[in-house]
Amino acid sequence: MEVKKIFLPESELPRQWYNILADMPTPMEPPLHPGTGQPVGPDDLAPIFPMNLIEQEVSTQRFIDIPEEILKIYTIWRPTPLYRAYNLERYLNTPAKIYFKNEGVSPAGSHKPNTAVAQAYYNKVAGTKRITTETGAGQWGSALSMACAFFGLECKVYMVKISFNQKPYRRLMMETWGANCVASPSTETKAGQSILAQNPDSPGSLGIAISEAVESAVTGKDSKYSLGSVLNHVMLHQTVNGLECQKQLAIAGDYPDVIIGCAGGGSNFAGHAFPFARDKIYGKNIDIIAVEPLSCPTMTRGPFAYDFGDTVQMTPLLPMHTLGHSFVPAPIHAGGLRYHGMAPIISQLILDGVIRAEAVPQLETFEAGITFARTEGFISAPETNHAIAMVIREAIKAREEGKEKVILFNWSGHGLVDMTAYEAYLRGKLSNHALPEEEIHRALSDIANFPKPKQYRAAKV
Ligand SMILES: Cc1ncc(COP(=O)(O)O)c(C=O)c1O
Repeated sequence: MEVKKIFLPESELPRQWYNILADMPTPMEPPLHPGTGQPVGPDDLAPIFPMNLIEQEVSTQRFIDIPEEILKIYTIWRPTPLYRAYNLERYLNTPAKIYFKNEGVSPAGSHKPNTAVAQAYYNKVAGTKRITTETGAGQWGSALSMACAFFGLECKVYMVKISFNQKPYRRLMMETWGANCVASPSTETKAGQSILAQNPDSPGSLGIAISEAVESAVTGKDSKYSLGSVLNHVMLHQTVNGLECQKQLAIAGDYPDVIIGCAGGGSNFAGHAFPFARDKIYGKNIDIIAVEPLSCPTMTRGPFAYDFGDTVQMTPLLPMHTLGHSFVPAPIHAGGLRYHGMAPIISQLILDGVIRAEAVPQLETFEAGITFARTEGFISAPETNHAIAMVIREAIKAREEGKEKVILFNWSGHGLVDMTAYEAYLRGKLSNHALPEEEIHRALSDIANFPKPKQYRAAKV
């Protein structure tokens, strides 16, 4: 009988995370203080993050031990199963073998708890009592709410108002785990009040929600802020995924020729691909593909430049692919991929040729999600559908070339709380958003005078 899924026993759960900063072909350029233009030091970040996470952020140690308390919580859903997508292979009539890692089995439904639990733990150890964050579509906010419940921490989530109203179930998940979730802009912060004074009907944005969460952390007692992607320590925590995949593929007797993941801030892709990227850096031949929306083409069209991580310019300047911190992506349903920047490590690995990026249009992603649901059963998050669309393209290419490639991809989350997006697709109400050329030009003009990284690359516009 065909082996459909490969489980690892709990005893095989990785005991360490993998830190790719130890193996980068080119050293990273530092984040800069926006006021002085000088590299930021740990003390600059201390008002926002606990020192133990700041130490991880700058660490170049190759493997970092996962504390026992985190391992205990990981075992609720980890190790996650690796599936072979036989039905999809047959449907596509491809000689390729397709494997997918199911991160949707976590209680919150995505990969996000891998770092949420770690961040809550390190905050608890550092004496934090309350964590603040922002959330767009709600995956990250719900993951952090659960993690805070495990460690007895208060959790405050600023949820983009339009999503707050459209996605009551994500909000209710957060409340079930004990978090306090408010619509952003709120009247609770100066940032929120000033936006509401200008526009009482503001639908909110991730940028506004970040400002509210950071302000609330800096002004709140024993409070810190938590970010669900982009930063080095978030990528690090997610590598438990790729390390498990390496063991599971060894059991199957396979090794990937192609690795695919969708990328918003980059964390699920990084966690899945980095342990294999290390093999590539030391000589393996693997095509590692990060997939983004055609309407938010950060990696495929944005310059490699210094830019703020948030819209309201509170973060350090990060060296990354960016569309400009004021870029407003089209309202696609993959809310988690509507981000103007990209993790600096991923951006650097693109420059180094270790990773390549592709962009896909919204309708192709939903078509792929429907094909996946009707062959493999699982209903995927709209973000995850971007990876599936790329997998289908690669499997068809393998058929045309007559090659028996091994394709591995990260199934980053289920879409069971995103059914309104599927409804819009099934009723023919979804469209491919036109490329917002003028919007890209406008947003990039905002960063034209920022310091330039040594490896600056111009935008492809
Ligand atoms: C299911 C799912 N996949 C992928 C992403 C993209 O985020 P990241 O690139 O940080 O993994 C998100 C973000 O919310 C998500 O919810």
